[in-house]
Amino acid sequence: MKAYILSKVGKPNVLKISETPDPTPKANEVKIKVKRIGINYAEVLSRRGQYSWAPKRPYIPGMEAYGEVMEVGADVSEFEPGDPVIAGAQFGAYAEFMVTPQHLVFHAPAEFSEDENAAFLVNYMTAWVALIKLGKIQKEEKVLIQAAAGGVGTAAVQIAKAVGSEVFGTASEPAKLELLNRLGVDHPINYRTDDFYDYIKSNSEGMDVVLEMIGGEVFKKSLALLNPFGRMVVAGYASIPLKKWNPLTYWPAWRDAPKVNVQNMAIGSYGILATHIGYLTSNPSITINEWSDLLAFCQKHQIKPIVGHTFSFDQIPEAHALIESRRSTGKVVIRVTE
Ligand SMILES: NC(=O)c1ccc[n+]([C@@H]2O[C@H](COP(=O)([O-])OP(=O)(O)OC[C@H]3O[C@@H](n4cnc5c(N)ncnc54)[C@H](OP(=O)(O)O)[C@@H]3O)[C@@H](O)[C@H]2O)c1
Repeated sequence: MKAYILSKVGKPNVLKISETPDPTPKANEVKIKVKRIGINYAEVLSRRGQYSWAPKRPYIPGMEAYGEVMEVGADVSEFEPGDPVIAGAQFGAYAEFMVTPQHLVFHAPAEFSEDENAAFLVNYMTAWVALIKLGKIQKEEKVLIQAAAGGVGTAAVQIAKAVGSEVFGTASEPAKLELLNRLGVDHPINYRTDDFYDYIKSNSEGMDVVLEMIGGEVFKKSLALLNPFGRMVVAGYASIPLKKWNPLTYWPAWRDAPKVNVQNMAIGSYGILATHIGYLTSNPSITINEWSDLLAFCQKHQIKPIVGHTFSFDQIPEAHALIESRRSTGKVVIRVTE
């Protein structure tokens, strides 16, 4: 089969297609013919050697796909060849075929298009766990979503709006702000023209919940906006400059990493929480339960994933470059088959 094999870290052009044997499913695994790949920020970080959940190189990157079941292992009874499925994985999706454990495979919702099916699992599960399970957002609570026009951000906006929260969302350019308006964000903030901290302070008392994925000054200012009983949920730190091979980056990376000061939390009566759904998926029953609750919620509120861009299989380096440029909106999806 054709697959991208990451054997060294570097710029997008280190991603190259090679021929490699098809994978064979183990007893609890499902083999999938990949039709669509959802590209994740974590894969950009992995390609740059900045992601601790990545396996040891060389490996086939790719954490999420939509496709068709080809073959199942001896212990798999939930799926059979031909089933359309969404699949999560630690790695392996940048390929024509992938295998993954059965608890990371889900029947694809018929109401989603093929592109949407590749845009759902990682972003919506992350936003769901962050806002519903940890942040416990409520109707009319004020919720600030950083990087609101991105993959996780748009998912979080849709979920928070469906709950009935008052949504504040930040983004860096007019096209992204237009998307936030279309999604119904109550307070879209272009943080390049309006400092988001000053904007919120002059338009609102403070935030009940913040979804933070940037780190550095954004984390600090977001924390300073929390109301008593507020919850800050950290789901990433996109701005952290760590390069493991460059000791000069260690200090700025440490300085900008989100930190918890329990005394300040006590003084402000607020909480800081964090999630990484990759680690969470090592627990099959939690994964399956949350998938089912998330899907039911999205179906009830007619939420469909936001696909911002599509590329062909040979354009995965271009897809990575677009995400790095910070000009992407919603999810970037790769069409492996037409
Ligand atoms: N915890 C989890 O399980 C989990 C799962 C998925 C993703 N994540 C994390 O969530 C974050 C967003 O992921 P995503 O897939 O939504 O990515 P994305 O769509 O590419 O969104 C990232 C956005 O972050 C904003 N940003 C602000 N400062 C940045 C900086 N210094 N460098 C890069 N981007 C910056 C940019 O939007 P503006 O220019 O508009 O600000 C950028 O477009 C990432 O940190 C990712 O690692 C975590």
